[in-house]
Amino acid sequence: MEEHAYIGPKAILEKKKKYIMPCLGHFYREPRQFVRGDMQYLFDHEGRRYLDCFAGVSVINCGHCNPEITEKVKKQVGTLQHVCNIYLTENFVNLAERLAEVTPGDLQKSFFCSTGSEATEGALLLASIYTKNSEIIALRNGLHGRTKLGMSITGISMWRTDDNPVGGIHFAPNPYCYRCPLGKKRETCDLACANAVEDLIKTATSGHPGAFIAESIQGNAGIIVPPEGYFKRVKEILDAYGTLLITDEVQTGFARTG
Ligand SMILES: Cc1ncc(COP(=O)(O)O)c(C=O)c1O
Repeated sequence: MEEHAYIGPKAILEKKKKYIMPCLGHFYREPRQFVRGDMQYLFDHEGRRYLDCFAGVSVINCGHCNPEITEKVKKQVGTLQHVCNIYLTENFVNLAERLAEVTPGDLQKSFFCSTGSEATEGALLLASIYTKNSEIIALRNGLHGRTKLGMSITGISMWRTDDNPVGGIHFAPNPYCYRCPLGKKRETCDLACANAVEDLIKTATSGHPGAFIAESIQGNAGIIVPPEGYFKRVKEILDAYGTLLITDEVQTGFARTG
């Protein structure tokens, strides 16, 4: 491997303090500097190898520098890098066609964007245009992005670093049987957390909010899997009030089909 003099974590932190907006934390007293990835492994600046069980936040699940992917990326950047989308290129429609083949039901249309925040914002914009209502129901302990609206629909306080969140957003209790926020037991609860969505619609909204957004499995909340039947019940409630269901699969769906 080529020798490389890395500047090291201390110098990075100093430069970061000087040149980067102070909105990125590391959660570690001594964060590592990673310099290379090879499939399931990461390597730090001192050559130490780590088995990566984190995979970004589940989004590097094809491995680091997977040669099959790297080859394709190299080929594309050596062929054509960017033209404005007022012109035609063919890869994006071919990819959308492949996605239409593997996604369930009659899902056919794709919208490509670069980040999860854009995806959730895009879905909510579409829902508000379609329903003519921009009220949103989200779940406590959910995470949907760091843009203005993405942060406002996020139900984890440490990720809500905006003193003026967007209005018209209501939070329902998250479905979490192990530590039920309603203090119930699964055997006897009759999906009280799903029923709480209806109470919320009736008491705190216009009566027909545009969208309900939730992760299919809450990621940053601690990988919280909802009880069986939760989304089915929620969907029945939403249908009765003309509210659209948006599933955020940024963590659960990347490079899988959900
Ligand atoms: C479930 C979920 N939605 C949305 C986002 C936002 O994605 P991005 O950071 O790419 O904007 C994240 C990021 O961790 C996420 O986990």
